[in-house]
Amino acid sequence: MRVLVSGGAGYIGSHTVLALVAAGHDVVVVDDFSNAKPTVVGRLEALTGRHIPVHAFDLTDIDKTEHLFATDTIDAVIHFAGYKAVGESVQKPLDYYQNNLGSTFSLVRAMQKHDVDKLVFSSSATVYGTDQAGATEDRPTFATNPYGWTKVMQEQILRDIAVADPEMRIALLRYFNPVGAHPSGTIGEDPSDVPNNLMPYIAQVAVGRREKLQVFGDDYDTPDGTGVRDYIHVEDLAAGHVAALEKLAVTDEPISTWNLGSGRGTSVLELLHAFEKAVGRELPYEVVGRRAGDVATSYADPSKANAELGWSTQKTVEEMCADTWRWQSQNPDGYPD
Ligand code: UFG
Repeated sequence: MRVLVSGGAGYIGSHTVLALVAAGHDVVVVDDFSNAKPTVVGRLEALTGRHIPVHAFDLTDIDKTEHLFATDTIDAVIHFAGYKAVGESVQKPLDYYQNNLGSTFSLVRAMQKHDVDKLVFSSSATVYGTDQAGATEDRPTFATNPYGWTKVMQEQILRDIAVADPEMRIALLRYFNPVGAHPSGTIGEDPSDVPNNLMPYIAQVAVGRREKLQVFGDDYDTPDGTGVRDYIHVEDLAAGHVAALEKLAVTDEPISTWNLGSGRGTSVLELLHAFEKAVGRELPYEVVGRRAGDVATSYADPSKANAELGWSTQKTVEEMCADTWRWQSQNPDGYPD
């Protein structure tokens, strides 16, 4: 298939580009580089030995999106592009609704006009709201912040589209906590500001860019009191997208929902200690108060994806830490400008 990857220069998008090429697909990237560096593209080309066509524009621009579909031959779309910072979404809700919903509107309109029927959508465990422990796909969806609501709303919009247009084949992929990096150390997560998420924060402490980790609460109802999450290596996540895409080519279901997680929980302190092993020294941390909006425990029930996609996570927390550390130590300041 020739696959349009929106947000293909971003963290999960770039790893999925590699997985698609390795599986024999052609890739076209669209990215506005609002949260990605153009230098990632050269690294993808070095790793794949292929030219990766990249279109730099904002997908909320319906004319540019339409022009791309009119001038290229696209068989399927994987839609990663979107704003994703929970705290920022509380400050700038209108930006989040406009960007995340608007890009989906443009993409699906262009897909319908040009008879492109396969769409894989980046959703999140955030759609389970405060009920994220052992989540199965049939749980009701809701959100606790505007970012989360954009995911809930986009899922609902896509479900309505699948009813109206039963020729569509849509996958809603609910990610748990993606971490890790490509084993080459040349592709990884490169937050543009202070990292919001745990793994990139630990990595920046280890490389000397941050003084110490702040652990947000050790009084949760969990084995060691710190928050428990289902970390998934970004390469396993990328493989989940390829499996979902290939399933869409053969399924009769207009829309399917799959959790992408390991089913195992790891606490903040367990992840920190695993990272210390990868680095070979202790890392400084202090326990501070809880972060507003955090749940105690989040982990997937991945059995539906395991059974229907023939997919399951392969990589351990140790590999996630080793690969993140290789990326961070080789690229202490992230991608060059
Ligand atoms: N944590 C710290 N210190 C930090 C950062 C995080 O202790 O500096 C803790 C959090 O309190 C939490 C755990 O580490 O217990 C994981 O936090 P992350 O921010 O890495 O991940 P979240 O599970 O909070 O957020 C992720 C995605 C969101 C998504 C959310 C819910 O980043 O996009 O899962 O599914 F909305």
